[in-house]
Amino acid sequence: MTQFVGILTAGGDSPGLNAAIRGVGKAGIGAYGMQIIGFRDGFRGLMQDRTVRLSGPALSGILTVGGTILGTSRDKPNKMPVGDQTMDMTSVMLETYQKHHLDALVCLGGGGTQKNAYHLSQHGMNVITLPKTIDNDVWGTDSTFGFDTALGIATEAIDRLHSTAHSHHRIIVVELMGHNAGWLALGAGLAGGADVILLPELPYDPEVVAEAIRSRQRRGSGFSIVAVSEGALSKDDAATLAKAKAAKKEAEGDKKSKAKARLAKLELSLQDKTLTLSRTLESLTGLESRVTILGHLQRGGTPSAADRLLATRLGTACAAYIDQGVFGVMVAARGDGAEAIPLEEIVGKRRTVPVDHPWIKTARDIGVCLGDK
Ligand code: F6P
Repeated sequence: MTQFVGILTAGGDSPGLNAAIRGVGKAGIGAYGMQIIGFRDGFRGLMQDRTVRLSGPALSGILTVGGTILGTSRDKPNKMPVGDQTMDMTSVMLETYQKHHLDALVCLGGGGTQKNAYHLSQHGMNVITLPKTIDNDVWGTDSTFGFDTALGIATEAIDRLHSTAHSHHRIIVVELMGHNAGWLALGAGLAGGADVILLPELPYDPEVVAEAIRSRQRRGSGFSIVAVSEGALSKDDAATLAKAKAAKKEAEGDKKSKAKARLAKLELSLQDKTLTLSRTLESLTGLESRVTILGHLQRGGTPSAADRLLATRLGTACAAYIDQGVFGVMVAARGDGAEAIPLEEIVGKRRTVPVDHPWIKTARDIGVCLGDK
């Protein structure tokens, strides 16, 4: 009997999404005789029943294309902005699912998408997910597609910053994506030869960073490259933020409390923390400093070979799991193979960089300053 499958992409886009759609689609149609449709713009398209038929021609020529041919959004099924309200649209999505007689819904996304997909699976849909994000922080999988491409882009950027930093005897602070996990800054920092790498997992002391730069200067290197995750915090900021978060939690339900507003104000002020770091390093070292924020450049363009391969093999594994009736799972990368991990084991968790990870030891062993000691 023909199986009907829907696919959507949600959360921030990442290179390899189209390769994954193609992998699910080609294997689904070719090996298992499925019929596939795509929903546009993530969970919003599922709510609004905006579809595109994913037959052979639609799946052709997309392997090397960046972004997602389906479009994406950060909308959540149970907190969907509708007009000036936020509504739970889960039942409307279930109607769309039933209208198309779907046997399975494939959701491609990061940590947030795993959570939203789990929510839909608890409301009667046969859901299966794939892990994508340039942050590489999805729990339960060896890696996520998008990460390798972003790593390559960020590494090349650091390579290029070296010559200008060297020529001007400057500090260059380069900010990489990663609010909660420092995989990208650590990986690209190591591969690009950054002198300092700052991660969300290891709050830093600006004086320790400054001393590392001064010590390079004393040894004749008048420039330094500081690779910093967008979520990295100084020890002081990390402590203040933790306190403000705890105060907000404690004040839950107390309408008069200002804890929520205080936290929001603090978070707003921390948005400029990379610029602040650059200014602080200037005053502590006497060197000129410049900031480069790589931003969405890291998510754009054609996926690397490794990401195409990962996305294709997870996509084809996903089609096989659908054929076997395995649902409520994420198709995780495990070694050269794939493994179905129950979504309930993944939601609410994040794969951050363990402080004893081999990449951290490698960085310390080659004299990279991680800002903590
Ligand atoms: O999806 C992950 C990510 O790329 C993060 O690294 C980054 O902090 C965030 O998305 C940016 O989100 P947006 O594209 O919505 O600004």
